[in-house]
Amino acid sequence: MELSEAIQKRKSIRKFREKAIPREEIQELIDAACQAPSGKNLQPWHFTVLTGSPKQELVEVMLEAVGKLEKKGIPTGSCRGTARAMAQAPVVILVFNTRGNPLNPPRGSDRYLWSVNIQSIGAAIQNMLLAATERGLGSLWICDTFYADPEIRDWLGRKDELVAAVALGYPDEAPQARPRKSCENVTRWLEEG
Ligand SMILES: Cc1cc2nc3c(=O)[nH]c(=O)nc-3n(C[C@H](O)[C@H](O)[C@H](O)COP(=O)(O)O)c2cc1C
Repeated sequence: MELSEAIQKRKSIRKFREKAIPREEIQELIDAACQAPSGKNLQPWHFTVLTGSPKQELVEVMLEAVGKLEKKGIPTGSCRGTARAMAQAPVVILVFNTRGNPLNPPRGSDRYLWSVNIQSIGAAIQNMLLAATERGLGSLWICDTFYADPEIRDWLGRKDELVAAVALGYPDEAPQARPRKSCENVTRWLEEG
């Protein structure tokens, strides 16, 4: 598949078939992620791959946290729907910023360094998504994990920053493309002459 085709074909998938993804293929997706550029080549990413019962446990950790927030009247948006997609997906990969410290959020000029690392991780995730599309896999980029941020970190015993999750599996839906803003409207050209 041409890269341009993968870019066009990639869509968020929230329904997955039960079929497992071979381990080598998951590894190839992580290899693609690790080829992303990163500020100062810091490669600030870490991937925790969950399948089977550890993945179901992750979903339970998330749902428990969401339940607590809801009891306090705090809205949790699309989190339950996202958790359903994670439960169905055969693989969920949690993505961490190894340079991020959730107990000491960036202030002042540290914010720029933090942004550099998050951008690098975003590039890695997009590589993973495109590599998945190329292999006929569906993917979902997830940030609803933020609703259970401390709970997930505690559960895994990680002290760095949880950035996102990616759910992966063979698609069981073919959603319509979501609309995009016209590129013309989000671009300004400053040219000579
Ligand atoms: C940073 C980021 C976080 C996202 N978080 C979630 C999420 O938690 N749950 C979800 O269902 N979709 C999530 N999405 C998917 C977006 O809703 C989706 O990309 C957008 O609606 C455009 O649709 P498309 O991916 O099919 O083109 C996220 C996407 C990005 C890039």
